Amino acid sequence: METLLLLENVSVKYGAIEAIRGINMEIKEGSVVCLIGANGAGKSTTVNTIAGLVKNQTGKIFYDGKDISKWETDERIKSGIAISMEGRRIFPDQTVYDNLLLGGYTRRKKIKELKRDIDQIMDRFPILKERANQLAGTLSGGQLQILAIARAFIAKPKLMLLDEPSLGLAPILIKEIYKMIKDFHKEGMTILLVEQFAQYAFSISDYAYVLEHGKIVIEGKSEDVRNNPALSSAYLGE
Ligand SMILES: Nc1ncnc2c1ncn2[C@@H]1O[C@H](COP(=O)(O)OP(=O)(O)OP(=O)(O)O)[C@@H](O)[C@H]1O
Ligand SMILES: [Mg+2]
Repeated sequence: METLLLLENVSVKYGAIEAIRGINMEIKEGSVVCLIGANGAGKSTTVNTIAGLVKNQTGKIFYDGKDISKWETDERIKSGIAISMEGRRIFPDQTVYDNLLLGGYTRRKKIKELKRDIDQIMDRFPILKERANQLAGTLSGGQLQILAIARAFIAKPKLMLLDEPSLGLAPILIKEIYKMIKDFHKEGMTILLVEQFAQYAFSISDYAYVLEHGKIVIEGKSEDVRNNPALSSAYLGE
């Protein structure tokens, strides 16, 4: 498999706070990679840096062989990177359906295919179907989160960055989100999955990184990392 994303010695500081320190990470095309770590470990900083929402002070980010470290977020999005964070990038004054349509903006030339994918996602999450014609601003926090994730998938990015997609959701919805991740992965999407508790993430990912205080402390095949005695049971939600 080809390398899709490569982080080389990437560091980010917020003032005096060193959020990530010299991170090296590789994501192969077509794989699912998970990044796990406790509160404040630097997980969001890592994905936000990949998306260009935060700029790295040291190191380089290569995407598809190109150094994108200096690219703006919209250039990265245009080249196939998508990021899903809780409730962000959702338009509260648009309907749920229109938010999904807007998520597929880059696919608008193949509107039939796009609408079919939206229908499929609404079948998966009946709440989106029930609320299709309501304004997104009327959704609850959990519903917004599902809409944000669904919307990011509708864009069919090459590289999907998911920052704690299961955070705060009921188990039945978490299962559905993980099924969706699996299905899009089967279609060839490359995914970076960030989670604090990794019991689900390990089961669907090929490779795992564990972040502590801004540094990668363990990495390897997900099944090996899961069974690594050095892995704190806190990550397994125990
Ligand atoms: N905008 C910011 N300004 C200052 N410090 C920040 C900022 N964002 C994050 N930090 C700090 O950087 C460190 C890493 O934060 P980050 O949000 O990347 O961690 P995380 O692993 O995503 O945590 P969580 O599980 O809470 O989402 C923390 O010490 C945090 O307080
Ligand atoms: Mg975070």
